[in-house]
Amino acid sequence: MKKLIDQATDPEQYSSGRAVTWISDDARQQKQQESFWNAIKPFIKIPCKSALDIGCGSGWSEKKFSELGSDWTGLEPSSGHFQNAKEANPGSKIFNTTFDGFNEVGSYDCVIAIMVFSHIKEVSDAFRKIHSLLNAGGVFIMINSTFHEGKERLERNGRTYAVEVIDDDQYVDKAIVGAYGIADINRRSEYYIAQAGECGLSLFKHATIADEGYSPKELLVFHKA
Ligand SMILES: C[S@@+](CC[C@H](N)C(=O)[O-])C[C@H]1O[C@@H](n2cnc3c(N)ncnc32)[C@H](O)[C@@H]1O
Repeated sequence: MKKLIDQATDPEQYSSGRAVTWISDDARQQKQQESFWNAIKPFIKIPCKSALDIGCGSGWSEKKFSELGSDWTGLEPSSGHFQNAKEANPGSKIFNTTFDGFNEVGSYDCVIAIMVFSHIKEVSDAFRKIHSLLNAGGVFIMINSTFHEGKERLERNGRTYAVEVIDDDQYVDKAIVGAYGIADINRRSEYYIAQAGECGLSLFKHATIADEGYSPKELLVFHKA
């Protein structure tokens, strides 16, 4: 059987059947997008001339950043999500790539990654790259899943999870919901904060935010000096 870490780092897990869930932009998702946007917006420094959305899903943040006058770029590696994002945001700059595979020259005032680092294996490589892509004074904002411990790791919100532990700071999980569950790497926020610090990104804000019907999420905001 495929290891959960291999599924978690394969963007095509989002391109098949019922797993294409983060792009339908149905009422539940629109509500979640609004609540994620309300959580990150206070930390976007205005003026924000350029923004990069790593793992942009449906590309919903394009309209939000456009309202702030930002030139928006999205990265989306899943073929299904990419196709959908292109159709939903004609004319916008979306690259069909993982963050690791993104080699365009660019510099941004704001970089976001919403529920995306759970698919990124090499955290410090990613932070180093974000640091190099940010303008001086730029902001990096991430939202991550909660790091669960004890019984909650295996069972919560009426769902059962398969789990592979990587080490004390990281594990991979997947809800057992038939053939289509998404696998995610979950990490302690302290792990992200330490790794980011080593790459020159200093923590500005750490908060837990609500996600209706789901476990709360972790918001982390970093500044590049
Ligand atoms: C949970 S969805 C979140 C989508 C979007 N950020 C949102 O808030 O609606 C995770 C997204 O990350 C993308 N992804 C997976 N691996 C990635 C990688 N290595 N680099 C960039 N994006 C990745 C997936 O294709 C998927 O669209």
